[in-house]
Amino acid sequence: MDKNSYIAVFDSGVGGVSVLRELRALMPGERFWYFGDSANAPYGRRTTEQVRDLTLAAGRKLLVEGGCKALVVACNTATAAAINDLRAEYPDRIIVGIEPALKLACDRHPGGTIGIMATDVTLRERKLAALMERVKQDCRVIRIHAPGVVELVEAGKANTAEAVALMEQLLGPWMGQLDALVLGCTHYPFMKKAMAQVLGEGVELLDGGAGTARETKRRLGEAGLLRDGPGELRLENSSKDPGKIELIRQLLDEKNAK
Ligand code: DGL
Repeated sequence: MDKNSYIAVFDSGVGGVSVLRELRALMPGERFWYFGDSANAPYGRRTTEQVRDLTLAAGRKLLVEGGCKALVVACNTATAAAINDLRAEYPDRIIVGIEPALKLACDRHPGGTIGIMATDVTLRERKLAALMERVKQDCRVIRIHAPGVVELVEAGKANTAEAVALMEQLLGPWMGQLDALVLGCTHYPFMKKAMAQVLGEGVELLDGGAGTARETKRRLGEAGLLRDGPGELRLENSSKDPGKIELIRQLLDEKNAK
């Protein structure tokens, strides 16, 4: 393992592409290996133990068998369920997780009302409760469940009328009440257009992708493991559906999805 080794980017499916985009923009000279576990998605409806086992298996594949120089867990659900176990198993490796950008939302909207949309696992795990505890003096935080959103993005339907209808159903009750919405799942940034259509442009939509990319660069720099080109992209998905790789390419190219 050296600076020419891959940076692994892992998600339960195609959602981590919203983080991969940021990583590639910030570090174009790196070699990225994106692994999506769409065969087992959605993780958000599984038990915490199942998500932990799947994430540890992916970590073994990418860090041990794959010899990657870093692992970016580009999945809030996997981070909430397994980041501590991953770090305990590989204490000498660079492992970066993603967390909902709740602190950032509260800093930008002091005294405001912030919605946090995430999977069931993320919403019930201790990590989020701890984050909410830290900001409770500054903001009112509302947990918003989002059944069906991951499935829609996995099906390549993020920019459809169906997506707008789902957002109307999930966010409609909060119309006119939110200052910001935190997208606590890496699949959700692909639904930003539908969200803005329902909530209006005045509600800030925040995700943790850019912050995760900056943290990854900082950690690699600190370890002397940054590479300066040429960049490379390796795409892998556990699903037997060959359309998944095509969908990942489409999502990577989508200009208006940011
Ligand atoms: N993309 C994952 C996240 O950031 C969750 C998707 C799933 O439920 O599989 O939480």
